[in-house]
Amino acid sequence: MSEYTFLTGPADWWRQAVVYQIYPRSFADENGDGIGDLKGIISRIPYLKKLGVDAVWLSPFYPSALADGGYDVADYRDVDPRIGTLTEFDEMVNELHRNEIRIFVDIVPNHSSDLHPWFQAALKAAPGSTERERYIFRDGKGEHGEIRPSELVSHFGPTGWTRITEPDGKPGQWYMHLFAKEQPDFNWDNPEVREDFLKTLRFWSDRGVDGYRVDVAHALVKNLKGGHLPNRLAFDLEVMKNDGTDDLFDRDEVHEIYAEWRKVFNQYDPPRVAVAEAWVHANRRAAYASEKGLGQAFSFDLLGAPWRAKKFKEIIDYNLKSAKSYGSSTTWVFSNHDVIRHATRFGLPNGTNLTEWFLSPDRESKINFKQGLERARAATMLILALPGSTYLYQGEELGLHEPLNIPSERMQDPQWFRNPGKALSRDGCRVPLPWSASGTSFGFGPGGSHLPQPSWFADVAVDKQDGVEGSTLELYRQALSLRRKLQTVEELRWVNHIFNNKVVHFVRPNGWQSITNFGEKLVKLPAGNVVLTSQPLVDGKIGPNTTVWLTK
Ligand code: NOJ
Repeated sequence: MSEYTFLTGPADWWRQAVVYQIYPRSFADENGDGIGDLKGIISRIPYLKKLGVDAVWLSPFYPSALADGGYDVADYRDVDPRIGTLTEFDEMVNELHRNEIRIFVDIVPNHSSDLHPWFQAALKAAPGSTERERYIFRDGKGEHGEIRPSELVSHFGPTGWTRITEPDGKPGQWYMHLFAKEQPDFNWDNPEVREDFLKTLRFWSDRGVDGYRVDVAHALVKNLKGGHLPNRLAFDLEVMKNDGTDDLFDRDEVHEIYAEWRKVFNQYDPPRVAVAEAWVHANRRAAYASEKGLGQAFSFDLLGAPWRAKKFKEIIDYNLKSAKSYGSSTTWVFSNHDVIRHATRFGLPNGTNLTEWFLSPDRESKINFKQGLERARAATMLILALPGSTYLYQGEELGLHEPLNIPSERMQDPQWFRNPGKALSRDGCRVPLPWSASGTSFGFGPGGSHLPQPSWFADVAVDKQDGVEGSTLELYRQALSLRRKLQTVEELRWVNHIFNNKVVHFVRPNGWQSITNFGEKLVKLPAGNVVLTSQPLVDGKIGPNTTVWLTK
């Protein structure tokens, strides 16, 4: 039996934390099977400590057939044997805690894997049985039930319904899935489903897990009353209603579930925390981030923003005010396992349609790599100086661009191969990290790498940047260490500027200033001591695509 360790400390430790997202299969591979593992993570804890993060968030590491990169969970209370064991999980938590790093795990409550024992049992049981009631099974339309129950579209295309073969060998009922067909949606009207997730939350919380990232938190409750079936799918906010009555997303009733989760979180000391992945209208974030709910919600507003000072200010202002109005702290994020790395995004002209760009044959020629990296460094320093918590994605501290040359037959993302010619692949940002310029799989592990790594990884590997003045890795280390010292109450004051449309400049109550030049002209330094710059100053002034931090 393992010993569990817990980190005590203030209940509000998360409010201004820096959380580093680890995509476990692509972080570090200790056993050489080409897939990252928990032992690999343990071996890199000194790296995380030196980077200076407050917490890590692990994307799913549960048993999974990997139909959707692990977001198809076959057992919520175990570790995939390719990634490790529960004993290694405990060892990892202990080692993280010994280094004062907290841990979030990903909870995927909207759907399980089709290999989950409950779904397997449902397939063997009869229509209307208790087993089927844990998912959303319906009869088909048409004389023989051969027409799918509704026109629901799956996020990974094309349809949101899959027909099963009944135990007697005949074509039978259909089940609903918002994502891949290997990801059947749970029926959250069923108390057994609710109870099982509470059990899962207790299971990990008891083992010392400090927090949860909640996958598609807004999708759990659907409008299925009285035989109604949703007919469309759109994560597109333009289509989604913003009054709590949408057929599929962000229904008011979903918060009853999170109120129950909150009761579990509050049974721990300090209370467990959670952050909602909820792509909802900005005015609807409050309920997820309420202290009676999950406590915090991702804001993806800046992630989708063009490189424009005015837009950044507007978004920052809105998010700070709204988070304050509901008593939570806001979140900032530019990269994660679902989006093109921000160094590459910022290298594209403002307003680029990313899907069209990704599908175009000459996509690489459209990237200004230098500008992209400069803007990414400046943007990250900007958000690190803001009140609230920052979520970083593995590899952004190396200034990684998106690997774009993965052959189609090596792609793993269902979004790519189930929407031929229509969607971009999320595999690029999931390519295993380069730890060393030479060696097998750039130091990712002693074997290969489950996704091919580009040759330019040699130039940006950790050992190429470690201790090198001006490298992106050293910039992140310095920024995180300074932030730790300078972090203060969750307030800022905007500073007006003669180039107001080109500059984002603010001061925190302790005199910590951040100024970013979004324009082409040099900008005069404000009064104060320069403590960090994302690019060297030009003739003592702030050059384009640069952030400078100053203190009194
Ligand atoms: C959001 C996750 O971030 C993404 O990777 C996944 O494909 C979907 N939810 C479905 O779980």
